[in-house]
Amino acid sequence: MCNLIRLKAPESAVDYLVVGGGVVGLAIARSISEKFPKKSTILVERHTRAGEEISSRNSEVIHSVFTSNVYVRHLHSQGLYYPPDSFKTRLCIRGRELLYDRYEIHTRRVGKLVVATEKQRPYIESLHNKAQKLGWPPSFATTPDRPALRTQLLSGAEARQMEPNLSSEITGALWCPETGIVDSHALMESLEKDIIDSEGGDLVYSTRAVRVDPYTQTSPALPDIDAARRGWVVQVVTGNAGEGDAIFTKTLINATGLSAPLIANSLLPEAKRLPLFYARGSYAKYSGPGVSGVSHLIYPCPETEGKAHGFQSLGTHLTLDFRGNVRFGPDIQWISPGHGEDPDFWTKHLVPDDSRLEEMHRAVTRYLPGVTFAGLQPDYVGIRPKLVGPQGGFQDFVFRTDYPDTDKESQSRPLISLLGIESPGLTSSLAIAEHVVENMLGHVR
Ligand SMILES: Cc1cc2nc3c(=O)[nH]c(=O)nc-3n(C[C@H](O)[C@H](O)[C@H](O)COP(=O)(O)OP(=O)(O)OC[C@H]3O[C@@H](n4cnc5c(N)ncnc54)[C@H](O)[C@@H]3O)c2cc1C
Ligand SMILES: *[C@@H]1O[C@H](CO)[C@@H](O)[C@H](O)[C@H]1NC(C)=O
Ligand SMILES: *[C@@H]1O[C@H](CO)[C@@H](O)[C@H](O)[C@H]1NC(C)=O
Repeated sequence: MCNLIRLKAPESAVDYLVVGGGVVGLAIARSISEKFPKKSTILVERHTRAGEEISSRNSEVIHSVFTSNVYVRHLHSQGLYYPPDSFKTRLCIRGRELLYDRYEIHTRRVGKLVVATEKQRPYIESLHNKAQKLGWPPSFATTPDRPALRTQLLSGAEARQMEPNLSSEITGALWCPETGIVDSHALMESLEKDIIDSEGGDLVYSTRAVRVDPYTQTSPALPDIDAARRGWVVQVVTGNAGEGDAIFTKTLINATGLSAPLIANSLLPEAKRLPLFYARGSYAKYSGPGVSGVSHLIYPCPETEGKAHGFQSLGTHLTLDFRGNVRFGPDIQWISPGHGEDPDFWTKHLVPDDSRLEEMHRAVTRYLPGVTFAGLQPDYVGIRPKLVGPQGGFQDFVFRTDYPDTDKESQSRPLISLLGIESPGLTSSLAIAEHVVENMLGHVR
């Protein structure tokens, strides 16, 4: 596909080019334009506006920390294993604090109950014990004077005082007061505004990056580009135009989420590319009995028996939006492209349907027995970008760096790709940006 696009000489040059206007690309572009106001930073997004893909199709939960169910399997098979030093843990805690501090109006600390039946009690107890030991990540200049993660074990009766419609089978719960919700669209609008208002930042919509080439010492001399410079030449196409423009950038950030098509020509041979797996998650909205006065997020314990899917998502939980509307989801369904199918094949799986409702109803009534099938309606679908398949264990966020060439000059011209930014990517977004800008680009000029 990429080779059909002719390599053109760049017509313009920028310092930083960010591809992808989801919450991650926006947060990075914002941090760059804040940290390097005298440099030019451009973000290109293929849709007509920001956040049309993963960033607008998720639970909008501010996770207090990452408690993947993968963890549960490790817990059973290898003793207590928890990756406290993973990016997912560190960036989630840091991102959570940054969100609450800076975007107070778009966030609400509603708190979460992880509810357990008698058999599931060991799970929440071990989560609680782990939470006690969790420290603040090093990214905090001054360590807050409170635990990094507050949790409290409740009895079934105490949990029912908070949420009266919980099943009588629920005999314990873990209360996580730091969990909350975020209005992801409002957050992205704030980030956009910061970029537009910055000195050197700019946003370009309806524009796709279609080809990436390293610009090296041996590249053909390009007009207006000093031959000693290294970097990247990115071909972009706006709207339906057949042929686009070429932009030279010193630093390239690939924040394309689910998109495999942005393959660097000659850079990533098939064998070196990271495979991407896709896991569909459906949501249903609910109005009906059995959720009276519900005011907290409610998560079941993961199912650890039988089906592998318990390890890959946090289970069909109850979330609330800012108006108090109740939503259940996401479930998990693995999807993959048919032979020779377009890498954007997943877009056709975005249409919600009622085939998931029965299973969802069954899952939900285990903890909220009064929820009726009739009150459930398909709402929307999100796709998780996964770096490991259904049988995979814990997988961290990946920050991959490539350079245009092997010489010293090229080392300050990185292409940074953000891979597998699934949950808790929204919570972590501001911290991901901070990590990229402070730890990965801080020394780059
Ligand atoms: C079902 C589900 C539930 C989730 N729940 C939560 C949650 O409750 N809490 C939480 O913290 N996280 C959650 N997440 C994770 C979170 O939503 C993601 O980590 C985050 O939104 C990823 O953002 P992104 O910017 O990387 O991707 P995206 O939002 O997909 O952004 C990528 C952008 O790149 C653009 N693009 C792609 N290719 C090109 C190209 N060639 N040229 C130009 N533009 C291009 C796309 O159009 C898109 O806008 C959930 C995810 C899913 C799927
Ligand atoms: C950009 O990221 C996507 C996945 O998000 C990946 O498939 C692709 O190979 C990356 N492209 C480059 C040039 O690194
Ligand atoms: C839900 O709780 C309310 C308030 O306590 C109660 O009136 C109602 O009967 C409960 N419904 C179910 C289905 O448990």
